[in-house]
Amino acid sequence: MASTELRRKALFFFIFAGAIVVVLMAMPLVVGWLRHDVFPQFGMVFNRGTWDLNTDNGNPSMVAQTTATLIENLLHILRILLWMALVISTVRFLGYLIFGTAFKKTGQPEISSLLKTVLSIVVYIVAFFIIFQSQYPGIELAPLFTGSAILGIVVGLALQETLGNLFAGIALQADQPFQVGDVISIPNGGNGVVESVSWRGVKIRTFQNKLLVISNAVLGKETIEVAPRGNLNARLVNFDTVYIDSPAKIIQVARDAIRQAENVSQKIRPIVRIRGLGDHGLEWEVKYWLDDYSKYNDTDALVRQRIWYAFKREKITFAYPTRTVHVEPPPLELPMEEIRDSISELLCKVSIFAPLTDEESDKLAAATTTRVYSAGEPIVRIGAEGNSMFVIVRGKVRVQVPENGFQKTINNLYENDFFGEMSLLTGEPRSATVIADEETEVLRIDKVALKPLFESNPQLVRSIGEMAEERRELLREIAEKAKETESEEEKGLLRSIKNFFGLK
Ligand code: CMP
Repeated sequence: MASTELRRKALFFFIFAGAIVVVLMAMPLVVGWLRHDVFPQFGMVFNRGTWDLNTDNGNPSMVAQTTATLIENLLHILRILLWMALVISTVRFLGYLIFGTAFKKTGQPEISSLLKTVLSIVVYIVAFFIIFQSQYPGIELAPLFTGSAILGIVVGLALQETLGNLFAGIALQADQPFQVGDVISIPNGGNGVVESVSWRGVKIRTFQNKLLVISNAVLGKETIEVAPRGNLNARLVNFDTVYIDSPAKIIQVARDAIRQAENVSQKIRPIVRIRGLGDHGLEWEVKYWLDDYSKYNDTDALVRQRIWYAFKREKITFAYPTRTVHVEPPPLELPMEEIRDSISELLCKVSIFAPLTDEESDKLAAATTTRVYSAGEPIVRIGAEGNSMFVIVRGKVRVQVPENGFQKTINNLYENDFFGEMSLLTGEPRSATVIADEETEVLRIDKVALKPLFESNPQLVRSIGEMAEERRELLREIAEKAKETESEEEKGLLRSIKNFFGLK
């Protein structure tokens, strides 16, 4: 196939080049005939490269002279064109021979396009200079190019983009970050398989079978991800399973499932690992290597499919986004009567309220409020004013008084115990601080609620009074003890001072 094309191209080249050579060889004959036979008839004499008027031969017109010069110039231009055609066809044929065949065998076909173009342009320019100078020896072409600043600017601006691409292409070729057949991904530019690298840009065949053409200048500025053709490139595929299934089993099943899949490399064992512990299950990651990376879309799909079937067989359950919603029923509002009944029931368990009639305890219950305190929160503070007492519904409190600058716990009170009665009965400031030891719920009973009960039930006053008296006694004892210790300490201190100063 290739040799047929070569033969065809060689035949075309030799015929074309031969024709040009024949024409070029025939031209001097034509010129000689024109110079010696045709123009002299119009009174023109060819004298050292220019046409003069032959004054001996009649009166030749200026028109004849102009026409002769024009024809002479046309012949020069024709010669230049023919020579250039010969050069171009030779360069193209040689280019095909060298780059189209030889470079292809080296396995670097992509270099041929760029190098061929660059070399061809150089040869064309040099050839044009030589041919032009041979036809017009009097005209200096070099200063025309080097001396003309404006021409330089115009050409520079016009070729800015092209030259930028060219140099970026040369840099790409020198660097060779990727080759034809590699899969490349360009940010915001898509991804696909490199189809060709030319001096202008790179052609990429996308996975939707479209052709993406990116100029070298643009490509040179991007960060490109390359998956080289001969390299073992890896892919990651994710899936999730529910927490119930054993990870060891999942790893085994998934690995076996994808191992035999087409295009999955046998050289490296696929990795199956837990990527995270997600909201709805274990998050897995499969890493596998491909023989042909350009088919990764199909292979990814096949890997997922194999996993699905294997999991189905092994009864492993995929996890999909789930959320457990606990619906909180609205708090049941107990009817007021029920609340009152439960409070009065509770009050009956408190020793001092035991003698109350049902009616009285219902009345009292109706006048109470419940409060909840967290652990460590003071419910009453020593020295504060107080006209309410408290019954502990649940929890535990500690009664504290200050001693030597510290808070001393003198008693603990529990469910169905009460406190705060001393200030309520006497109007004195709180005698101690009462702090919740854990989350504690109390019933608060105000003075106004108790007053009618005191009036109708003197026993109530007595029993509360007795308890208050007992507690006050204890407080007094503690205070006296503290005082004694203080005076002892003072005496001790006095003794030390006297001893120190040697006083009596
Ligand atoms: P009151 O003085 O109003 O405020 C502090 C409360 O602590 C006090 O009422 C009593 O109810 C309670 N209290 C004081 N001393 C004791 C004690 N020794 N044992 C139990 N409770 C006490």
